[in-house]
Amino acid sequence: MNLSRSGKLDPAPGMVAIAPEELPPLPDDILTNPEAARIDPRLWFTHPDHPLEIEIGSGKGTFLVQQAAIRPETNYLGIEWAREYFTYACDRVRRHNLRNVRLLCADAVSFLHWRAPDACCRVIHLYFSDPWPKKKHHKNRVVRDEFLEHAWRVLEPQTPDRPAGELRIVTDHDDYWQWMERHFTRWCDELGRFEREPFHAPDSAREGELVGTNFERKFRQEGRAFHAVTLRRRG
Ligand SMILES: C[S@@+](CC[C@H](N)C(=O)[O-])C[C@H]1O[C@@H](n2cnc3c(N)ncnc32)[C@H](O)[C@@H]1O
Repeated sequence: MNLSRSGKLDPAPGMVAIAPEELPPLPDDILTNPEAARIDPRLWFTHPDHPLEIEIGSGKGTFLVQQAAIRPETNYLGIEWAREYFTYACDRVRRHNLRNVRLLCADAVSFLHWRAPDACCRVIHLYFSDPWPKKKHHKNRVVRDEFLEHAWRVLEPQTPDRPAGELRIVTDHDDYWQWMERHFTRWCDELGRFEREPFHAPDSAREGELVGTNFERKFRQEGRAFHAVTLRRRG
């Protein structure tokens, strides 16, 4: 897919994949002008006016393929930095002929920070995010202050017609969940940026599933317990 500086593209039919090389370079004034590299991912879709949902760490694309097929009026952007999974998921999306899915091979936290414009996204999905269990690797976890700051900025605010955007999270990892809870306390109770809500399974989940991703199905067979939350943007 060829992107212009504004993020527009020639939407050739069937185009699914956006490689990191296709994003324009970050400009020289990026540190003093954080808006300088914004690209609107809604313009990557055939129907840019449809609501956008982003899945971070889309892996092999199971959630995207299942959910996009039953929600053709919603645009889904999967962001996956592992090229092998990205390529695999793109192939699945093409085979299912899904016109409302795009995949970007990139660091999702950086994309939200530097590229995504304010209020462009209705839902951010984060399922079974890598727990990075060693303390020296905690800085690699997706859930951290930088991510929550930009997730808040990128999610749609409430309007008279619809509720504010939401961040949906599921994990099996107890230590990562405790880490997340500490972040939620700060971002919900102290800063007032989000409020916690119960997690509801998407339409595509099978009976008894929370979401129905590859990792959920694998971990269910192993009998693991899960933690799930929806954080709704406030303000
Ligand atoms: C444990 S897997 C879960 C995949 C899928 N969500 C599922 O539940 O089956 C986590 C995925 O997130 C990807 N990932 C981790 N951090 C990422 C980041 N910052 N940006 C993009 N992808 C990321 C990994 O490459 C991996 O494919």
